[in-house]
Amino acid sequence: MSITLNSPLDMHLHLRDEAMLKTVAPLSSRDFAGAVIMPNLVPPVDTKEALLAYKERINSAIGDDTFTSYMTLFFKPTYTKEFLESVKDELIAIKLYPAGITTNSEGGLSGFDVDELRPTLDAMAELNIPLCVHGETNGFVMDREAEFVSIYEMLATNFPKLKIIMEHITTKASVEALDKFENLYATITLHHLLITLDDVAGGMLQPHLFCKPIAKRPEDREALRKVALEGHSKVMFGSDSAPHPQHAKENCGCAAGVFTSPIAVQVLTELFMEHSNLENLQAFISGNAQKIYTNITVPEKSITLEKKPFVVPAIYGTVVPMYAGETIAYSIV
Ligand code: NCD
Ligand code: ZN
Ligand code: ZN
Repeated sequence: MSITLNSPLDMHLHLRDEAMLKTVAPLSSRDFAGAVIMPNLVPPVDTKEALLAYKERINSAIGDDTFTSYMTLFFKPTYTKEFLESVKDELIAIKLYPAGITTNSEGGLSGFDVDELRPTLDAMAELNIPLCVHGETNGFVMDREAEFVSIYEMLATNFPKLKIIMEHITTKASVEALDKFENLYATITLHHLLITLDDVAGGMLQPHLFCKPIAKRPEDREALRKVALEGHSKVMFGSDSAPHPQHAKENCGCAAGVFTSPIAVQVLTELFMEHSNLENLQAFISGNAQKIYTNITVPEKSITLEKKPFVVPAIYGTVVPMYAGETIAYSIV
């Protein structure tokens, strides 16, 4: 029996640049119809020129595949309404990083002062530009996301017309916030549906499963699974596939990020076929995103899978994928 997915979308993806971009971009453009491209390059993508040039480099890395790169800018509280008007047709959203909280976020925001943020966020709301957020405080690592929920609530209440996407949520607390505020949405990764902290650090340390936000408790994973598997209309798939070279992961000082793009569609299919159904998978992997992000057009593309074992390569270029060397149950036809 084969399974067909229509226009799968990855609503949170890191493609990097240069040689890494050339290695990883074709793996996403093979399996997805489009992806939201994160701006945390060095230096960050924070001008119209940088965004357009990066999009060109991505387009040349993906070749002839049908694939749309939905670009984002790195949030700055200094963006003016005039600037946002000039760039809005080139992007899907603006991504906010608290300063220093994750890979290449040093230029991020060092505080959440409503008055300072108001001009930019009001303009974004008016221009229908969603705000994507890496929601972690700099508190104790297991509590960072739950502590950030009060900041999400502050943003959601002060900017009721702004669409706010809680990126890569990992906790029950964030799932609960979703249903409390109309303008909060979320992406969920594949790895956070699969693993808990035990898989990362419960036995021998697994650097290739180390990411931000760190995987949490079984009850958090349950809460994420519930909303994903039921096709909850406010959650979308965002892989947060975040490649780092093997030497940066297998290192004293391991870089954060799990590389999942080459296996994401296959493993999500396995998870949904076991615990839910194809209709909910279609909503999670494409339909919900198209309803939430009303400012996009999605190319038509269908991906067919079959239940046939696939041995995950040990490495792609310099990057070790999740499940390297292991056998997964579904393959792309
Ligand atoms: C991401 C990266 O490497 O760019 N890392 C990660 O662990 N998720 C950054 C991010 O999405 O926070
Ligand atoms: Zn992040
Ligand atoms: Zn990310």
